[in-house]
Amino acid sequence: MRKIPLWAHRGFSGRYPENTMAAFIAAVEIGANGIECDVRKTADGCFVIMHDETVDRTTNGSGSVADMTLQELIELDAGIGYDVAFEGARVPKLSTVLSYVSRSTALITLNLEWKIPIRSRQDVEPVLKWIEEARLTKHVIHSSFDVGSLEVLRQISPKLRIGLLTEPGEDGFTTAKRIGAQAIHPDYMDVTPRYVRRAHQEHFFVHPYTVNDQKGFAWLAECQVDAAITNWPGEQWLMPFDV
Ligand code: G3P
Ligand code: CA
Repeated sequence: MRKIPLWAHRGFSGRYPENTMAAFIAAVEIGANGIECDVRKTADGCFVIMHDETVDRTTNGSGSVADMTLQELIELDAGIGYDVAFEGARVPKLSTVLSYVSRSTALITLNLEWKIPIRSRQDVEPVLKWIEEARLTKHVIHSSFDVGSLEVLRQISPKLRIGLLTEPGEDGFTTAKRIGAQAIHPDYMDVTPRYVRRAHQEHFFVHPYTVNDQKGFAWLAECQVDAAITNWPGEQWLMPFDV
């Protein structure tokens, strides 16, 4: 079977606490070609990695990320529900992830999924500056379901790599073209060989989310996608069960 580049969804979240440094480091060590992570902002304006709006599901705390200070957030245990070895895992700052990726010897893609709305340059300026200073601009792809956020990013710079996330069943081609995206990130169930042919003809890369079963990997390989976002990077043939 043709190999497809694998991007670790929330890190190697099939085995490690999602969106923690343990999950990102494990992903790189197992040979993932990229890392996907979710970006939010604390009450005191720090960029952190957290999927949900609240900390309730993934930590021992409760409440909204946007209402907590960085100090309050990093005191939480983000390793709950896993092996005791992960107890005490912290919610990472985005700057920590960027610094890890820039020091990593493996040349990987970092897919930042913006979970907060970007409405002006000021909303993201520090992040774009870090990325540029770390010479990671070509390695970072910014994605969001929020078209307005991607439009602002595109207005800020034509150099940024942008991927439009589409909801299941949504045809994002017209929007992706309009906002100058380089890639479409569809639900993997929407992907067919015809879909990928059309995307490539229109000069889009295709990076579907989130495939975690054997049949799905085989199908995406047959469709010739450009990368697949998965909780099981590098271990797709070792999964204990189809999840
Ligand atoms: O970036 C792909 C995927 O992560 C989007 O969905 O809910 O897992 O952030 P979600
Ligand atoms: Ca995500």
